[in-house]
Amino acid sequence: MTPAVRKATPQDLSALLEIEQQSFSHPHWNREDFLRYRCLIAELENAIAGFLVSRQTYSGDQKSPPEREILNLAVAAPYRRQGIATILLKHELQHRAAYFLEVRESNVAAQALYRKLGFVAVAARPQYYDFPTERAIVMRLK
Ligand SMILES: CC(C)(COP(=O)(O)OP(=O)(O)OC[C@H]1O[C@@H](n2cnc3c(N)ncnc32)[C@H](O)[C@@H]1OP(=O)(O)O)[C@@H](O)C(=O)NCCC(=O)NCCS
Repeated sequence: MTPAVRKATPQDLSALLEIEQQSFSHPHWNREDFLRYRCLIAELENAIAGFLVSRQTYSGDQKSPPEREILNLAVAAPYRRQGIATILLKHELQHRAAYFLEVRESNVAAQALYRKLGFVAVAARPQYYDFPTERAIVMRLK
């Protein structure tokens, strides 16, 4: 089934927080964080299957395109490996922008997803994450 993608609203926050808490070893996003940025959700069978949060980090000029950053992405466990994150990312990547993101070095699932969509590793940031302490891989999509 193909999910519907739409912008998140305040009514979605409890579900987003639950997915965040299921999905990360050290969840650090609060309710109010999601709507501070552009938050897309994928909805299936009247349930929120996943979310993607992004922001513009540079508005661009005549020589350089705008830049955007993927800040958070998660899919609820029962809906994984069904293409939901791919759909959310393809929606987001419709912006004409250079994209950046950080991902835990051990998160091979997310890195595989990002590579499949054209991201490449461009740098590493030592001790970027806590609980557990870990390097971030910085990935970029042109
Ligand atoms: C990473 C995550 C968002 C992927 O969501 P998803 O909806 O399952 O991803 P998709 O179904 O769109 O997968 C697309 C591709 O990504 C790769 N991928 C996804 N999950 C994978 C896994 N567990 N192991 C290896 N590769 C994986 C595969 O190449 C997959 O294509 P395939 O299914 O044809 O092999 C999801 O596992 C998740 O929420 N994880 C916890 C939170 C997280 O790590 N977020 C990213 C933070 S940077």
